[in-house]
Amino acid sequence: MLNFDSILAAIAVEIRPLFGQGKIADYIPALARVPNEQFGIALRTADGREAYAGDAHTPFSIQSISKVFTLTLAMQELGDRLWERIGREPSGDPFNSLIQLEHEQGVPRNPFINAGAIVVADRLVSRLPDTQRAVRQFVSSLCGEEIAFDEEVARSEAETGFRNIALANFIKSFGKLDNPVEQVLDLYFHQCALSMSCVQLARACAYLCRDGASALRDQRVLNERQTRRINALMLTCGTYDAAGEFAFRIGLPSKSGVGGGIVAVLPDRLTVCVWSPELGPSGNSLAGMRALELFVEKTKLSVF
Ligand code: DON
Repeated sequence: MLNFDSILAAIAVEIRPLFGQGKIADYIPALARVPNEQFGIALRTADGREAYAGDAHTPFSIQSISKVFTLTLAMQELGDRLWERIGREPSGDPFNSLIQLEHEQGVPRNPFINAGAIVVADRLVSRLPDTQRAVRQFVSSLCGEEIAFDEEVARSEAETGFRNIALANFIKSFGKLDNPVEQVLDLYFHQCALSMSCVQLARACAYLCRDGASALRDQRVLNERQTRRINALMLTCGTYDAAGEFAFRIGLPSKSGVGGGIVAVLPDRLTVCVWSPELGPSGNSLAGMRALELFVEKTKLSVF
């Protein structure tokens, strides 16, 4: 049996030379204040073993990782009707690009670029009365602990989110957003500002390696087919224009965020979450990406 504790501890040491080589996301002022020399890693196996190393209990801003949770809720609520307004193809453009939306008449390429996540948020606002609360409660129930929004980050996003405001208005101009732009973006900015640790994320995402059954109460979050589809989308679209590089170097469905977190899934085996705030050129955590690569090398666990 693999000794995950010692493997994760070794990875936490091996990534240290990367500190100082990346760049913290500073386009959201509240994120720019996070100290850079931090690294955490945590995993949870499908049968409930947990292991962690480094700053695995330190909460950070999950940012775009939240798009997995809102997509999950929207799949629960709408089933296949969700795909009437969102595609399933990688975009090959930056996560906040407006270019494809014009050509594709306000139907975003996939749910993990910002435009796609804004459409998902709109669908949720239409279906769930107190949507922010519903999202927070959903994530809290998945990891068995109260999860909170970092209101300072949410405010900071709203104050500087000019591109997201443009994206939402653009989608609305095609008649593809049902609710007021402000209401949809308020949800989007808050979901990005959920604050969670690696341990909490590895636990919360456990349903992705358990055919849709949650970690703690074994509750059905999604059915098997829906779960496979989220993993497929994570592999092809979860790390923006670096999805090809992720598949090549790591080979695990993954979702990253500009807060420096990455969640990766090995179906039927485990979920692993890494966090280190400095980002590399593709906007993904530099040490986090290397850590996942080392994890796959050391354990030989990958979907390929
Ligand atoms: O929309 C934004 O700019 C951020 N709140 C979320 C971006 C994000 O994490 C994209 N990531 N890799």
